[in-house]
Amino acid sequence: MHQLIKATDFTREKLEKLFVLADKIEKNPKKYRNSLKGSVVATLFFEPSTRTRLSFESAILRLGGSLLSTENAGSNSSGIKGESIEDTMHMMAGYSDCVIMRHGSNDSAECAVKAQPNLPFINAGSGGKEHPTQAILDVYTLRQIKGKIEGLSVAIVGDLKYGRTCHSLIKMLSLYDNIEIWACPVRGLELPEEYVVFMKERGMKYFPVSSLSGLNPSVDAIYQTRIQRERVEDKSIDLNAFVINKKVMARFSENTLLLHPLPRVDEISTDIDGDKRAVYFKQAHYGIPTRMALLLSVMGKAKL
Ligand code: CP
Repeated sequence: MHQLIKATDFTREKLEKLFVLADKIEKNPKKYRNSLKGSVVATLFFEPSTRTRLSFESAILRLGGSLLSTENAGSNSSGIKGESIEDTMHMMAGYSDCVIMRHGSNDSAECAVKAQPNLPFINAGSGGKEHPTQAILDVYTLRQIKGKIEGLSVAIVGDLKYGRTCHSLIKMLSLYDNIEIWACPVRGLELPEEYVVFMKERGMKYFPVSSLSGLNPSVDAIYQTRIQRERVEDKSIDLNAFVINKKVMARFSENTLLLHPLPRVDEISTDIDGDKRAVYFKQAHYGIPTRMALLLSVMGKAKL
């Protein structure tokens, strides 16, 4: 695998191998500190990011690679002058050994790899559809804490229409057996039908509900999401419909994890940051070993 576009690019076997490599990196990071020595990796983020961009950049540096970046590709690259993704990729092929790109367009990753099919490439978020590297660290988090993925029940909450992390998570969880997805969307931000059809085709159990109180209190994990204000056009949508706080979490089992891809705005109250079930900061930190492992894979330094 030298290009990652979408969550379904992984087979279960490949994903498990990636996780095993991430485990090894986490246990002994120094062993990998020269793995990308002599390689140049470009990060092109046409949309804002804290975690994805900086954890990738940290991963590149921790692997001994060199970094080529533009502060904000949306305003500081020639994309603002109208240069296409394809032409940008033709340039990057001469300047770097791998491109990590985030872009607001749903088909941006496909355009990028079509232009440069041999250049290692990682989709760091494309429009409202895909965020495969977030799904990798989300599933890794569940695996590390729960010990296994098979048979887990996960409740996705919030913006299920534009929340690309939910879409990629559903697809990645489909690689495992007996997964239950509970869905609690903010009204007007329901899960697009294509994902409901996808779950049915993959034999995943699906339980849509209209309020947090409708969720099974024994669900293994709640995956809360931010309303994607930058993509929501309907001004009547209640941005604070589902706030998770101490009172809400009191209804759930002591084994129900609370995840969030972050950034959060108001949808998770800070009063539960200290709750042992609130694992969103640990989840974000798993971005380092998983993205280090992914870089080694797409750049041909590790075989999955
Ligand atoms: N989870 C995530 O994609 O965060 P950033 O937008 O900060 O990269």
